[in-house]
Amino acid sequence: SYLGLDLGTSSLKALLIGEDQAVIGSASVPLTVERPHFGWSEQNPESWIVACEAALAELRAKHGEAFSAIAGIGLSGHMHGATVLGEDGKVLRPCILWNDTRSHAEAKALDDAEARAITGNIVFPGFTAPKLLWMQAHEPALFERTRLVLLPKDYLRLWLTGEAVSDMSDAAGTAWLDTGRRDWSGRMLERTGLSRAAMPGLVEGTEASGAVRNVIAERFGLKPGVVVAGGGGDNAASACGVGVAAPGTGFLSLGTSGVLFTATAGYRPVPETALHTFCHAIPGLWHQMGVTLSAAGCMEWLSKFLKEEPAALTGALGETIEAPGRLMFLPYLSGERTPHNDADIRGVLAGLESDTSREAVTRAVLEGVAYSMRDCLDAAGDTPKPERLIAVGAGSRSAYWLELMATVLETEIALPAAGDFGAAFGAARLGITAATGADPASVVSMPPMARTFEPVAEKIGAFRDAHARYRALYPAVKAAMA
Ligand code: XUL
Repeated sequence: SYLGLDLGTSSLKALLIGEDQAVIGSASVPLTVERPHFGWSEQNPESWIVACEAALAELRAKHGEAFSAIAGIGLSGHMHGATVLGEDGKVLRPCILWNDTRSHAEAKALDDAEARAITGNIVFPGFTAPKLLWMQAHEPALFERTRLVLLPKDYLRLWLTGEAVSDMSDAAGTAWLDTGRRDWSGRMLERTGLSRAAMPGLVEGTEASGAVRNVIAERFGLKPGVVVAGGGGDNAASACGVGVAAPGTGFLSLGTSGVLFTATAGYRPVPETALHTFCHAIPGLWHQMGVTLSAAGCMEWLSKFLKEEPAALTGALGETIEAPGRLMFLPYLSGERTPHNDADIRGVLAGLESDTSREAVTRAVLEGVAYSMRDCLDAAGDTPKPERLIAVGAGSRSAYWLELMATVLETEIALPAAGDFGAAFGAARLGITAATGADPASVVSMPPMARTFEPVAEKIGAFRDAHARYRALYPAVKAAMA
């Protein structure tokens, strides 16, 4: 059997699968986020280890036989966090998380033509490098003592194996990686007062990064020498979970935030559109990723506002999409990443009338989010668009929304049959490749699909026009809110 560990922001999930990749069991342990000041978001790295110990103990208690037969472990986790360690290998301060915005000034200072040319990305405030510049300015004594900077899941690896190692997909989110070469950039490190000595070693997500330490193996009843794979950042690991591992394949995640992820054969950076270009967790592949901050989150807002469940709101629309309405919604409830990189923008409902119905508002919200995902698709520049996208996340439960997405994105959307294809599953799959040396292409397959949604051909033109009107609204709202 194999184990996937996904360190999420709100919980750590451990998933145990068999040789046939069927799920044997899972354990989930909640985590908390501290917000001691405006814009700050931190986690105590010790809490990750405590959560991991609890998850391992629970799986062992429930599935003793399969647990003791684990042959490989894969790791996944929230990206970009700065976990800083001193000479003695102890953390110097709480981890500064991906959604912490305190280092926006430092990010702006780092984000120039040189940084974009090396890393392939805008230096976002959430990325790791600007956080170390912030420490240099605000916590100089701690910065001086910093000997090693680890990403969150790699701190778990250090505890599990004793090895300081990261994988390419997670490392690409630091702004210290030469993303095209899949190696640390001496120049980017120098620009934040660091050197390679402060960086972990690098492996591909599918490769072994070390073996579980004997003390841990004995304590939890694991076989000696269980291999731990490089693993991946949560999005690359999710891609491995849904089988997005061949160039030109992609997924659309409609969670609180939205992600449009495409695997690419080569390195194709387009930083000017605020698209992320990271290494995939699979050797020789990269991926492009548009990230929006409010997707199903917009339906959560509407649901609270109208005091009606999202499923009831979308259910009232039936299954056949209508032509775009006159009501327009900009989904920027928490600002936007792709394509605007604008933390200050907020949402808007434009075109309200005296008899605007809740159905019309629901449709406008679903349409607005669909246009924001179209912006992510268009942000990819001349990279060929995927032929179809696999839909995941809470929003994929609405057939109306998926047909709308297919039509607005002009791309077939496939909905997997029920099952667990998340980041923990993807991590467990990487555990298989690292332990067995199996070809990733044979391990990272696509799940069976329950349904596919085709674009509604006769409505594509009307949605293209509506998308152009939506695009025109952003600069107007920006100017009005300035
Ligand atoms: C990716 C990103 C998030 C985090 C947290 O760029 O910021 O997906 O990894 O889940």
